[in-house]
Amino acid sequence: MNGQVTAPGKIILFGEHAVVYGKPAIAIPVSGMRASAWSESSKEGLTINALDIGQKFKLKDSNNQFSVLAQSVLAKTNFNEPNLTINLSSKLPQGSGMGSSAATATAVCRALSKHLGVDLEANEISELVFDAEKIVHGTPSGIDNTVIAYEMPVYFIKGKKPKTFEPGREFFLIIGDTGIEASTKKTVSKVRKNWQKEPGLMDGYFDEIERITENGKKAIENGDSKMVGEMMDENHDLLNSIGVSHEELDKLIDIAKDAGALGAKLTGGGGGGNMVALAETKSEQKKIYKAITEAGYRAYQTSFGEE
Ligand code: MEV
Repeated sequence: MNGQVTAPGKIILFGEHAVVYGKPAIAIPVSGMRASAWSESSKEGLTINALDIGQKFKLKDSNNQFSVLAQSVLAKTNFNEPNLTINLSSKLPQGSGMGSSAATATAVCRALSKHLGVDLEANEISELVFDAEKIVHGTPSGIDNTVIAYEMPVYFIKGKKPKTFEPGREFFLIIGDTGIEASTKKTVSKVRKNWQKEPGLMDGYFDEIERITENGKKAIENGDSKMVGEMMDENHDLLNSIGVSHEELDKLIDIAKDAGALGAKLTGGGGGGNMVALAETKSEQKKIYKAITEAGYRAYQTSFGEE
C-alpha cells in the first residue's frame, strides 16, 4: 500500500460560463473537502477503483477521464503500464459545481506519479487533468483543474497563465447543496445553444459578467465584503439570464439572504448543484449555515483570505 494523496474541491466566486468565452473568472479551493487516492500492487496491470461509484477502470478503456489521464501520465513520463490498483474516494458530491471530476482526476494523477517516483509540478498536473476533463465536460475552460492543482485563489482567463491575488481580509462562505445532480457538460452546451441563437444578447451578458468579476476582484483585494456580496447577487441574476439557474438554487439563495447573507449566487455549472453565500462574520456564517440545514439542505462552511 502506497501513502494517500489528496486534492481539494473548488468554488467559483465570479465568472463561471463566461470564462468558457474568454472572460475572466475567480475561483478558490475548498481545502476541507477533498478527493483521496491510494495505491496498492496488483497482478494484472493498472486499475482505477472508484469506490464511491463502484466502478473499475482499466488503462486501455478510452471513454473515461481516469484511463485517459493515466495514459497521458505514462506517455509523458515514459513508463510502461505498472501492476497497480489506484483506489479513489471523494468527499465531493458529484455534479455539484465543486469540481468533483477535476479533484478526483488530480488525486489519481498524484497517486500514479507518486508510485512512478516522478515529481510533477502543479502546472503539469493541471495540464494533464485538463485533457481528461474534456471527456467529462466537452469544452472546459480549464479553471477547475487550475484552482485544484495550485490550491490557491486564482484569477483565471482561458489559455493564459493563472494569476493569484491577495484577499484584503478573511471572507466567510456558506455552500448550500440543492441535492440536484447537474451535468456541467449539459449546462455548458445549453449556454452554447443560447449563444448561437442570440449571440449579441449573450455577448452582452458575458461583458456584464466580466465587469462584475473585475469589480469583485478589486473588492476582495480591498476587503470590501459588502461590495463582494453585491457583485455576487448581480452575477447570479446574469447567470439566471443566460439560463443556468434552477428554482431550488433560487430558494436556497432566498434562505441565505433572509438569514443575513451579504450576497449569494449559484456556483459552477448550475442547473442544480450548489450555491455559495457570503457572511460578514463567523457568527453570521453559522447563522446562515443553520438556516440552510434547518430547511433540510446539506451545507458546508469555508473561508478564504487571511485569518
Ligand atoms: C464549471 O466549474 C465552470 C464552467 O464555467 C465550465 C468551465 O469553465 O469549464 C461552467
